[in-house]
Amino acid sequence: MNILVIHGPNLQLLGSRQPALYGTADLASINRELHRLAASHQVMLTIVQSNHEGEMISRIGAARGRCDGLLINPAGYTHTSVALRDAIEAAGIAAVEVHLSNIYAREPFRHQSLTAGVCRGQICGFGAASYRLGLEALIGVLTASQTAQRPHQPTPSRRPARAGSTSASRRRR
Ligand code: DQA
Repeated sequence: MNILVIHGPNLQLLGSRQPALYGTADLASINRELHRLAASHQVMLTIVQSNHEGEMISRIGAARGRCDGLLINPAGYTHTSVALRDAIEAAGIAAVEVHLSNIYAREPFRHQSLTAGVCRGQICGFGAASYRLGLEALIGVLTASQTAQRPHQPTPSRRPARAGSTSASRRRR
């Protein structure tokens, strides 16, 4: 399973940027935690951070057919970018949106997410843990859809052992 993680603009500053809002964990430590979690589920992660809307859109476009899922913190573009929303929708892969802060408890202009509507779900307000929770949710969604797509294999029925025979004696026959 392959998952693309995109951190949007200004998230390279995590750790020193408004720690009361965004916490003290820097981006490198968040990424380490995501890699650890992904490895424990045998998931391959590609992580990028970009301050450029066009680059984020190109990365999402390139993920189509190559990645199974997208974990994204669109940061400021959450509230402004129709183009990013269109890119997520066009990619046709399961996406989960995350935010460190609770955007609904902040300024009114942050209450609207243009991108969440084309994602499977959104997690916000848990600081760095939002990323971990988002990745777990995304892996859950992808695992469920892979299981549903797998052809049904009937579970082999076990023949009841005959009275007086052991599996060893049956093998000798
Ligand atoms: C953010 C919330 C956005 O409103 C803001 O522009 C960000 C960070 C968050 O993770 O809480 O840059 O996406």
